[in-house]
Amino acid sequence: MEINMNKITIEKIKESRIQTIDFNNLPFGKHFSDHMFEMDFADGKWGEPKIVPFRNLSVHPATSAIHYGQSIFEGLKAQKAENGDILVFRPDMNAKRLNESAKRMSMVEVPEDIFLSGLRELLELDKDWVSSNPDQSLYIRPFLFATDEYVGIRPSERYKFLIITSPVGAYYSEPVAVKIETKYTRAAEGGVGQAKAAGNYASSLYPAKLAAEEGYRQLLWTDAKTHTYIEEAGTMNVIFVINDTIITPSEDTDTILKGITKRSVLEIAKKWGYKVEERPVLVAEIIDAAKNGTLQDAFGAGTAATIAHIRLIGFEGVNYELPTIESREFSNRVKNYIEDYKLGKIEDEFNWMMVIS
Ligand SMILES: Cc1ncc(COP(=O)(O)O)c(C=O)c1O
Repeated sequence: MEINMNKITIEKIKESRIQTIDFNNLPFGKHFSDHMFEMDFADGKWGEPKIVPFRNLSVHPATSAIHYGQSIFEGLKAQKAENGDILVFRPDMNAKRLNESAKRMSMVEVPEDIFLSGLRELLELDKDWVSSNPDQSLYIRPFLFATDEYVGIRPSERYKFLIITSPVGAYYSEPVAVKIETKYTRAAEGGVGQAKAAGNYASSLYPAKLAAEEGYRQLLWTDAKTHTYIEEAGTMNVIFVINDTIITPSEDTDTILKGITKRSVLEIAKKWGYKVEERPVLVAEIIDAAKNGTLQDAFGAGTAATIAHIRLIGFEGVNYELPTIESREFSNRVKNYIEDYKLGKIEDEFNWMMVIS
């Protein structure tokens, strides 16, 4: 594929909107920084990469992403270190995962170097939008969608890739109650669960709404065929500790999103000498462990919350209370470690951070 490797052109905003933002009251995903990265694919090649003022898009009513859902995205965060450096956690993994999603959805891939250099330049330009408050961050949303103006089902020949950013406060600070879902399905084998495809999120809204009416904050998804294996937790991966062993559903199935936070947690755990098992995890095993007191820890892992403690698991109308948050050795330790890591408070021993000085 031909790639336009020209320098990124930059069109700056005339006047920043940053003064209009109340950084002490940041709802998730409602405010956006001054600029965005934009690049279009047409005629078999990527066009000029650009950074432009954040603005509305104009789309044709037949834009194929709207009709047939060729639309994928990523999510990551930038934070500010005490010395003023801007730090981004493992953005190369997001660039790779975007392209895995693109492959599954028959979309064009975004050259990894353009993803990363576009992100870097965007953050350099909008660096003031990254708060120095360690509880806040700049959420980064790269996304790719089909732009053929054609109402007919086929892989689009044109695409738009954008990166927008949004200042956000702390997320999911409270431990969550989750429900094991045994009726609805997020992803089936052979489907698109492993892709970060927009439609996966649309289809989860209804079962999540029903669970919320029962008082649960997230769903623990189970396998589509038997509903007897745990897969993931809402928009997080799920990790358990039973008898001092860290257990998480394996990614051998194509129904689980390969989370970057989870991968990092497991790499850290192995380095710390914990026993880690990635394997099919039965619902029955988790419920038994909750009943007999061997379930020491359970948490969701994802970019939004980093680590979200699970305080309660609901299954078939029964709620199982989990051990107190203070007693959870592993999740507390790894949460503090990753949070400090993302803020540059500890050495980048895994070589994970993008640093913008
Ligand atoms: C369905 C799903 N699973 C897991 C995750 C966690 O992935 P990551 O740690 O890369 O944010 C996310 C969030 O991105 C998600 O949407």
